[in-house]
Amino acid sequence: MSRADGVQETGAPLQTGVPVHVGVIMDGNGRWATSRNLPRVEGHRRGVEALRRCVRAAREIGIRYLTIYSFSSENWSRPVSEISELMGLLRRFLRHDLADLHAANVKVRIIGERAGLSRDLCLMLDEAEALTRDNTGLTLVVAFNYGSRQEIAEAAARLAAEVAAGTLRPEEITADLLGSRLSTAGIPDPDLIIRTSGEQRLSNFLLWQAAYAELVFLPIYWPEFDHAALLGAIQEYARRDRRFGGLAARTGS
Ligand code: IPE
Ligand code: IPE
Ligand code: MG
Repeated sequence: MSRADGVQETGAPLQTGVPVHVGVIMDGNGRWATSRNLPRVEGHRRGVEALRRCVRAAREIGIRYLTIYSFSSENWSRPVSEISELMGLLRRFLRHDLADLHAANVKVRIIGERAGLSRDLCLMLDEAEALTRDNTGLTLVVAFNYGSRQEIAEAAARLAAEVAAGTLRPEEITADLLGSRLSTAGIPDPDLIIRTSGEQRLSNFLLWQAAYAELVFLPIYWPEFDHAALLGAIQEYARRDRRFGGLAARTGS
């Protein structure tokens, strides 16, 4: 089914080779700006435009879940001025784009630690989730103040509390049960993780969930990201042979 804005609805069957869930580590804003003799903050501003292009492209391609790494638990170690700019950009993004996302049937979900964020930002995040909760198109998962190790430790603490309360036996703890206590509960594991900027690491992003994700590292800075870049990464993904510990699917050998 085609929408009035010409974007394919994600309820349609997936094309072969299109990942269900794509995670994106939006990296290289600062270097993009510095290489143009601009302040780093300008890179972050242009990064928001790249994010808009990315969301639109994901909808057009028919991706069901898009998780974007916007601010890591470790990004607090940056200068205060840069942190407040990044907080301000999220506020502006929600203020300007939430209505459009909702109109485009996008469901917004936020993962990451709320503690440490200002009250008004938390209210905006709650509002974005509440407004779009019944939408059935692309699920946009915003990882903000997110750290995978912290997330796993919290899940472990939750299970430990259940054991202490006598509602869970230690031998009942499985990988699936721990996964169900993560902030991504109910979201399928990422099939593809893309990182821009040329860095080849996960930087504490979806460590548990990415156990069998295909990783694609693009040699462009995040502000340069567009539909063609996403398509290129998906084409690379489609060429990969995902084995999940078994034998090659294509040759059967
Ligand atoms: C990504 O760009 C944005 C965030 C981490 C919030 P960077 O700010 O990390 O840009 P580089 O890596 O310094 O170029
Ligand atoms: C990862 O990028 C975090 C986000 C993109 C939000 P960083 O720029 O913070 O990662 P490192 O420090 O290069 O590993
Ligand atoms: Mg970086």
